[in-house]
Amino acid sequence: MPSIASLALASLLAVPGISTLIPKLPLEKYIKSERAIALQGVLDNIGPNGVKVPGAGRGIVIASPSKVDPDYFYTWTRDAALTLKTLIDEFLLGNKALQPYIEDYVHSQAVLQTVSNPSGTLLPSGSGLGEPKFTANGTRFNGNWGRPQRDGPSLRAVALIQYSNYLISRGKRERVKTEIWPIIANDLSYTGQYWNSTGFDLWEEVSGSSFFTTQNQYRSLIEGAALAKTLDVPCTGCGQAPQVLCFLQSYWNGKSFTANFITGSNNRGGVDANTILGPIALFDAGAPCDSPTLQPCHSRSLANFKVFVDTFRNSALYPINAGISQGKGVALGRYPEDTYYNGNPWYLITLGAAEFLYDAVAGWSKNGYLTIDGASLPFFKELYPLARVGKFSWYHPSYYVLQHLVRTYADTFVAVAQKYTPANGMLAEQFLKSAPFTPISAANLTWSFASFVSMAQRRDGRFPTSWVPRSGPQKPVVPSVCAASSVQGTYAPATAAGAPNVTAPCVSTVRFVLNATTYYGENVYITGDGPTLGNWDLAIAYPLLSSNYTAERPMWWADVPLDMTAGSGTTTVKYKYARQQNCGQDWIVEAAERTVQVPACRTDGSSQVLVETNDAFIGQGGTPGSC
Ligand SMILES: *[C@@H]1O[C@H](CO)[C@@H](O)[C@H](O)[C@H]1NC(C)=O
Ligand SMILES: *[C@@H]1O[C@H](CO)[C@@H](O)[C@H](O)[C@H]1NC(C)=O
Ligand SMILES: *[C@@H]1O[C@H](CO)[C@@H](O)[C@H](O)[C@H]1NC(C)=O
Ligand SMILES: *[C@@H]1O[C@H](CO)[C@@H](O)[C@H](O)[C@H]1NC(C)=O
Ligand SMILES: *[C@@H]1O[C@H](CO)[C@@H](O)[C@H](O)[C@H]1NC(C)=O
Ligand SMILES: *[C@@H]1O[C@H](CO)[C@@H](O)[C@H](O)[C@H]1NC(C)=O
Repeated sequence: MPSIASLALASLLAVPGISTLIPKLPLEKYIKSERAIALQGVLDNIGPNGVKVPGAGRGIVIASPSKVDPDYFYTWTRDAALTLKTLIDEFLLGNKALQPYIEDYVHSQAVLQTVSNPSGTLLPSGSGLGEPKFTANGTRFNGNWGRPQRDGPSLRAVALIQYSNYLISRGKRERVKTEIWPIIANDLSYTGQYWNSTGFDLWEEVSGSSFFTTQNQYRSLIEGAALAKTLDVPCTGCGQAPQVLCFLQSYWNGKSFTANFITGSNNRGGVDANTILGPIALFDAGAPCDSPTLQPCHSRSLANFKVFVDTFRNSALYPINAGISQGKGVALGRYPEDTYYNGNPWYLITLGAAEFLYDAVAGWSKNGYLTIDGASLPFFKELYPLARVGKFSWYHPSYYVLQHLVRTYADTFVAVAQKYTPANGMLAEQFLKSAPFTPISAANLTWSFASFVSMAQRRDGRFPTSWVPRSGPQKPVVPSVCAASSVQGTYAPATAAGAPNVTAPCVSTVRFVLNATTYYGENVYITGDGPTLGNWDLAIAYPLLSSNYTAERPMWWADVPLDMTAGSGTTTVKYKYARQQNCGQDWIVEAAERTVQVPACRTDGSSQVLVETNDAFIGQGGTPGSC
């Protein structure tokens, strides 16, 4: 519950715009009160009883109750998994009231795995597991989106493995084996099959390979192998772990981690918060700091941290950080080129930086020594000008001085988040980089709240269970040569956890290609016969992609795996194109039906394009709304 003092502040704050004039609570007290607010903030966004998300299905974690500007009233596999990981840690730390939420999550994920969606289906190839988001009630989301995203299955596996290990310690091994392992096994199969394929990053903007994704994929395969061994079951995909670890090392560019290897042209310099959020997601306090898993206390992670933070110590980019000296925390955003909502600091990244530093201190503390090398020296010198290269063991004064300074530095990032948190403790997604520095974008963001709770756990010296093997065949060792690789996964609905017993659809893939001049914010869909095209229901029409659109060739396209299970042989499929105008204006649907001859379908998961259309939109163009 909020303290009396914060309640008093909350009532004062009925007058808008004066929050920065009100003296803030001392950090210690603030963390205590905000932690409780944040935990409740998470629970309020989980169906079916979350007070802020009426209509959300059981165990569905909604990203934010915000339905307009922006509409985040969906569940993202990534946000949900990271949130549950924190809730499971909180549960393991003694909050037994959280178990029903965890059980509901297990059930909801078993079902979501089977929902066919624009990324594909569970059967036969697992492709549907890469879908980033679903509606609040767990149905498919058909909007044009950055898909697939390949971090979600790994993060979900990590959360479920953590809970499984708890259940096993309570004698529930059989239950884990029959109910939860099948969900995890699908996600690990997906990871082993697709880790070396391109996908969208955690910000859903660029396609390629992403540090955060690769790092978490590695963790899931290692933990998955250990759980499989305990359960005495095979793990398809886990054998890919050494190659994933090899690829992870390649993001290091000599000074920092290049956050993404992007397919196609882009304006990114490679500095991105995903390289801070990755290490905290796989933090293991007892792992050696030189572990190639790239823990927060790894010298490269520390070097990268400084490069990342210094990027935002630029008052032209971030006026909010003007006048803050080196060695003090600043407000942090996703990456310097960000334009979403004009590119502002995020609570979860500013808090994530604090968590990163608490984690690093914990790593040195558990290991009993701290190493400074050429890469990490600038990080240490910023806090302690006398720092020098060397290995400092527990009996060396520098060992204590540096840990103290880094912990104090971490606190200054929390203080920044505190400064820009409204008195009612609600955490939005972002806060303005320029005056008046008020919250912006989605209100009450679940991930922001979860990030506060995990930061507070670490600051309190409460760490997640260890996962990095110290010896044996799974001990992280980087292969001398990296190889492109993949292994075919095995997939099955997790029926014992409540998933429907779906079967592989019989699919014919058609490439729809359309010329249609559109304006920014307008989207184009195909509506038509059969389940994939939504049976003429515009709400579930199939989205086309604008990825190859140019002024010379206004091309919209998609390779559509038409589910032809109901038909047989060559079939005529009827369809029309439909423009979805922006600002909630009416759809513009073509008047006449088109047809395409579709050859016999296949159940082998092949996505080979069998037919290609060459169409041009017939009918009026769209008009931009003025919203
Ligand atoms: C966020 O939470 C606050 C406090 O409970 C509430 O007043 C506000 O309406 C919420 N906003 C959204 C979009 O849910
Ligand atoms: C689920 O949510 C979607 C989008 O909000 C809505 O169109 C659909 O009708 C809902 N389905 C059910 C079964 O409630
Ligand atoms: C696949 O792995 C190889 C070897 O590590 C790497 O060079 C390549 O960039 C990877 N591609 C993707 C898309 O992950
Ligand atoms: C699911 O369906 C398959 C065949 O389609 C069947 O072999 C299997 O027994 C079913 N599983 C359950 C749990 O009903
Ligand atoms: C889209 O552009 C890429 C890159 O130029 C090209 O390889 C691909 O074939 C194009 N896709 C279609 C459907 O034309
Ligand atoms: C679409 O545009 C391309 C490139 O200008 C052209 O070759 C093609 O014939 C057009 N298709 C139709 C149906 O007009």
